[in-house]
Amino acid sequence: MELMETSVDPAEELESVAFQPFESAYAMPKSVYTSQDFLDREISNIFAKEWFCVGRSDGLPNPGDYITLNLAGQPIMVIRDQNGQLRSQVNVCRHRMSKLLEGSGNTKRIVCPYHGWTYNLDGSLRGAPTMTRNKSFDRKQMSLPRLKCEEWLGWVLVSLNPDVEPVSKKLTKIESMISDFDMGSYKQAFFETFEWNTNWKVLADNFMESYHLPVCHAATIGGVSRVDDVECPEGFEAFNYHTLQKEEDFTLSVAHPDNTSLQGERRYMTYLLAIYPSWLITLTPGYFWYLSLYPEAPGRVRIYFGGGMSKEFVSSPESQKHFEELRVLLDEVNEEDRGCTERVYAGLLSKFHDPGPLSHLERPNYEFAQYISKMVPA
Ligand code: FES
Ligand SMILES: [Fe+2]
Repeated sequence: MELMETSVDPAEELESVAFQPFESAYAMPKSVYTSQDFLDREISNIFAKEWFCVGRSDGLPNPGDYITLNLAGQPIMVIRDQNGQLRSQVNVCRHRMSKLLEGSGNTKRIVCPYHGWTYNLDGSLRGAPTMTRNKSFDRKQMSLPRLKCEEWLGWVLVSLNPDVEPVSKKLTKIESMISDFDMGSYKQAFFETFEWNTNWKVLADNFMESYHLPVCHAATIGGVSRVDDVECPEGFEAFNYHTLQKEEDFTLSVAHPDNTSLQGERRYMTYLLAIYPSWLITLTPGYFWYLSLYPEAPGRVRIYFGGGMSKEFVSSPESQKHFEELRVLLDEVNEEDRGCTERVYAGLLSKFHDPGPLSHLERPNYEFAQYISKMVPA
């Protein structure tokens, strides 16, 4: 259903806005957020081809741990097999196409809920009741197709695209930029998924700027957020980022005394990494949290939300207590972001005027608009 009547192609509108000089940049036009047709193109041009982050590897620690998702219309599962390898495979039975697993959890075998065909964790068909009389049935030919799945610095990425560029190659620049954080050794403490009533890019946009901190987050972190300390350097082809300096008294967000790899002001530095299309990481020397976004509809986003601590903080009971407090704070901050981003989506449905100019603190948003425009050309 088209939510807005528009005679101009949203991709054309975007192109005319996105490539203005940064000094006179405008926010993306309404239609790229509200049009079903534009979303369909984002799904086929971006989400069907790119990597999608499904969380941290230590969120699926044991053989049989799995999570299921719908990626660009395809039911898939990510599961740890008997050998401890994470793999992604098609979550559809080879018999008459029932979906196999639902949600997330742990299982010894993958049993089809329709007629009971049973698969091993590696996707090979283990058994199928009363199939002995059909001459064309060959159990060995009935494995679940395997999809791309990679681990990178503790993250788990999946893709439907067999020719997708390896994650580590695509993100070399991030790896070198934050090598002293040793992101691979951070431990996850929570993970959940939920949906909000906004466009996925509204939430991505929200993450990409710290301009909204003093006002949207006035009741929580607004007072301690100094936008003067925000740096928005030019980004790269695969991601944009900005940085903040954190105060010493916010224990978990500055480097632990045992941390010897972070030097000087980097011990107080927070990175906000926005990896295209929809993988958003806040990385501090002490903790991290992340969002991975999948569009369910123009005005509906599915959110994979998790976080945890760096290795120096994990073992101390004191830090666990601080982290519990942080978790409560993150939930409150999240609720504020929900309010702000759902209000923006409601506003984007207005027909009376268009989005306005960007602040210099919204450089990442400017770059994101150019990325979207390149991926969904007019
Ligand atoms: S559809 Fe799976 S066993 Fe029949
Ligand atoms: Fe926010």
